[in-house]
Amino acid sequence: MVQPKNLIKPSLEGSTDFLRPPSANGAAQSAKRTPVMIPIRSLGPSHRERIAGHLLSLSDQDRYLRFGYAASDEQIQRYVAGLRFERDDIFGIYNRRLELIAMAHLAFSVDPSCASCSEFGVSVLQHARGRGYGARLFDRAIMHARNEGVTMMFIHALSENTAMLKIARNAGAVVERDGSESEAYLKLPAATMDSRVSEMVEDRYAEVDYRLKVQAKQFRDFLAGVREVRRGVRDARQKSAP
Ligand SMILES: CC(C)(COP(=O)(O)OP(=O)(O)OC[C@H]1O[C@@H](n2cnc3c(N)ncnc32)[C@H](O)[C@@H]1OP(=O)(O)O)[C@@H](O)C(=O)NCCC(=O)NCCS
Repeated sequence: MVQPKNLIKPSLEGSTDFLRPPSANGAAQSAKRTPVMIPIRSLGPSHRERIAGHLLSLSDQDRYLRFGYAASDEQIQRYVAGLRFERDDIFGIYNRRLELIAMAHLAFSVDPSCASCSEFGVSVLQHARGRGYGARLFDRAIMHARNEGVTMMFIHALSENTAMLKIARNAGAVVERDGSESEAYLKLPAATMDSRVSEMVEDRYAEVDYRLKVQAKQFRDFLAGVREVRRGVRDARQKSAP
C-alpha cells in the first residue's frame, strides 16, 4: 500500500517532501559502489550552523531538486532552525577541512496512521558528487530506520531527478511517477542483531573519524598561526636591518 504524498512535511514552508526508500539488496549494491567505509556521523543541534552552511551553498537548481522548489535563503534558515533532532535524524559526511559535504534528513512520521513510516531527503555538494555519498547516506538511513522499527521509507523527488531515483531504484524501491513528480517507497525488513551491531560500529567509527579530523584541523590552524608569527618576525627584522 502506497502512502499519500507529503507524508512528513519538512519544516520548510510550502516545500514538498524528501524521502526515499530502502531495499533488501541495498547493502550488496552499495558495497559494489563504495568498497571503502565512509564515516557518516549522526548530527546534533551543535551542527546547525554547518547544516545551514551546506544547504545555503546549494545552487538554485539543487535547492529545487532537494526541496521541490528553489528555496530562498530565509526558507532554508527556517528549515534548519526547525530541525527537531530529538525526533528526526540528520546524518552527515565531513571532509578533512570539516566542511559538511553531504547530509541527509531522515524524518519520522508524526501521522498515527503511518507510525512506522519515514521520509528521506539528501544533498551532496557539487564537487563531492559521483563518489557514492548519496547512496551511502541512503543505506545509512535505511539501517537506522530499520533499527528504529520503521517498516516503510519514502522519497519524494522530481521525475527529472535521475540521480536520486537511481539511488532509490538501486536500493530496490518502487518508483511511481506522477507527471513532474515521483514517489518512491521501500519496504524495510525488521531489525536484526546484525543491523544493530553494524550501526553501533558505524557510529563509533564516524565519531572517532570526526574527532581525528577536529584535532588535525586544530593542529593545522596552529601551524598556520606559527607560520604567520614567523613571517611577522622575519619582516620586522628585515625592516629594522641597516
Ligand atoms: C541526488 C544526489 C544526492 C546524488 O548524490 P551523489 O553522491 O552524486 O550520488 P552517488 O554518487 O551515490 O550516485 C548514486 C547513483 O546515481 C547515479 N548518478 C549520479 N549522478 C547522476 C546523474 N547526474 N545522472 C544520472 N545518474 C547519476 C550514479 O551513477 C549512481 O548509480 P550507480 O551506483 O548505479 O552507478 C546529488 O546529486 C544531489 O545532492 N542533488 C541535489 C539535491 C537532490 O536532488 N536531492 C535529492 C532529492 S531529496
